[in-house]
Amino acid sequence: MRIPVIAGNWKMHKTISESLDYLEAFRTVGEKNGVETVLCGPFLTLPALVEGTENSSIGIGAQNMHWEEQGAFTGEVSPSMLRDLGVPYVIVGHSERRTLFGETDESVRNKVRAALAHDLVPILCVGETIEEREDGRTQEIVRKQTVEAVQELSSKEMARVIVAYEPVWAIGTGRSATAEDAQDVVAFIRRILADQFDQQVANQVRILYGGSVKPANIDELLQMDDIDGALVGGASLDPESFGQLVDAA
Ligand code: G3P
Repeated sequence: MRIPVIAGNWKMHKTISESLDYLEAFRTVGEKNGVETVLCGPFLTLPALVEGTENSSIGIGAQNMHWEEQGAFTGEVSPSMLRDLGVPYVIVGHSERRTLFGETDESVRNKVRAALAHDLVPILCVGETIEEREDGRTQEIVRKQTVEAVQELSSKEMARVIVAYEPVWAIGTGRSATAEDAQDVVAFIRRILADQFDQQVANQVRILYGGSVKPANIDELLQMDDIDGALVGGASLDPESFGQLVDAA
């Protein structure tokens, strides 16, 4: 039995005071039995979010990190800094980081390994662009991104990873994948994990869908056998909408 995960990715939105206002409204609706709720804010908001969710089941996540422990990496944040702050989750390999900030399969792999080594839960994002989908390359791209990111993990480590299938063309466009299309790719990712590890591990890993998830389409997505939750951008910015998504799970 996989516990569903509803994770919000605020991207570059919200100041510290806006984050605190959000928590005021969200804390009670975000805490639901049987759902793992995660809020991934900008780095500067993380101390306030961690403090504001103490004694609550809402988990806090970063949206990125470097993989090195420390050193001359201007502007970067290390896994141990997140751990020290009490942040348990970190998004790794989001398509915006891959396309806008030059993140490669290799850096994503390093980050996944570093996260696990520091007892952080990586939320590993994979997904194809519209051109790749139209060229019939969805499976090829998703396989490559997934395998490259997880190939060096032990089965025990893999079981702790959360994977998010986020087709790039569905992100922030209002055009979600259909529940059936999302299910097809998510089931495909589970088969990749069964090949790379074994069926037991594949059955344990939570695989989320992300891309224009909103209260109007969450139910059909969650009804799919292999979809274990959602990684949500726009609809996570409003505590009420995000609360409805948590409720749906
Ligand atoms: O990481 C979440 C994401 O990229 C989806 O964004 O705004 O389409 O829900 P959105």
